[in-house]
Amino acid sequence: MQNNMNWQLVIPGLIIVAIKLAGTSLFMVYFPQIFPTLGFQRILNSTTEGNRTVSQIFSTDDSPENSKSSTSGGRTDCPIRWTFQRGKCYFFSVQEKTWNASQRACSEANSSLVIINSKEELEFLHNNTKAEDHFIGLSIRGAEGRWKWIDNTEFNTDIFIIGLNSDTSDCAVIGLTVVGTISCSVPNRWICEKKA
Ligand SMILES: *[C@@H]1O[C@H](CO)[C@@H](O)[C@H](O)[C@H]1NC(C)=O
Ligand SMILES: *[C@@H]1O[C@H](CO)[C@@H](O)[C@H](O)[C@H]1NC(C)=O
Ligand SMILES: *[C@@H]1O[C@H](CO)[C@@H](O)[C@H](O)[C@H]1NC(C)=O
Ligand SMILES: *[C@@H]1O[C@H](CO)[C@@H](O)[C@H](O)[C@H]1NC(C)=O
Ligand SMILES: *[C@@H]1O[C@H](CO)[C@@H](O)[C@H](O)[C@H]1NC(C)=O
Repeated sequence: MQNNMNWQLVIPGLIIVAIKLAGTSLFMVYFPQIFPTLGFQRILNSTTEGNRTVSQIFSTDDSPENSKSSTSGGRTDCPIRWTFQRGKCYFFSVQEKTWNASQRACSEANSSLVIINSKEELEFLHNNTKAEDHFIGLSIRGAEGRWKWIDNTEFNTDIFIIGLNSDTSDCAVIGLTVVGTISCSVPNRWICEKKA
């Protein structure tokens, strides 16, 4: 008699527990699908977006070599963050490096510090410096200590003249309105150039 009484209480109890477990499981399984934007997905999104932002900040400034080709405007073949002008692509750095390191950064992006060939190109560069000095591919080279372009051609003053700052100024920088000089070992922004 005692046993029968117990089973009559236990069996309905077990059934209720089973129903509750099933309900809880279904709730947990479907909850994220019912409210997809509330839970894990948003956390995942912000994590990946945060990461992407960090890597973009790095590559924006000084990794022209990381840039991928873009067809923006349909008329250029310049990588993203490079500026198209007259058949060439230009990269204006935001970071600052010594002249040597600047040239290395350009060369890693299959380009070179800019060589200025015309007044129009000079004006275009002035326009894009944002009033900051940028290294160009002009420095005092060779035993004679003459101003030469990075391709070893002689500098001639037809397009612009350089304002000498001091004896230790052995590299040229372009700013908003003038081309000046500075020591090659002082970090500056720089401008890379390559064919589009
Ligand atoms: C999460 O990312 C997916 C795809 O990238 C997007 O469709 C969804 O709108 C994003 N959700 C939120 C909350 O930002
Ligand atoms: C974030 O970026 C780092 C370095 O690139 C990488 O190791 C990590 O797995 C990334 N994390 C996510 C959530 O993408
Ligand atoms: C530079 O040129 C080499 C050889 O043509 C190529 O393999 C490499 O992908 C180029 N790098 C960039 C950043 O364009
Ligand atoms: C430089 O900027 C001036 C003033 O905005 C503009 O008139 C001129 O066309 C620009 N030159 C070049 C080559 O971009
Ligand atoms: C730059 O590199 C050249 C050789 O490529 C070296 O002779 C010169 O000393 C370097 N200049 C600086 C400031 O590091």
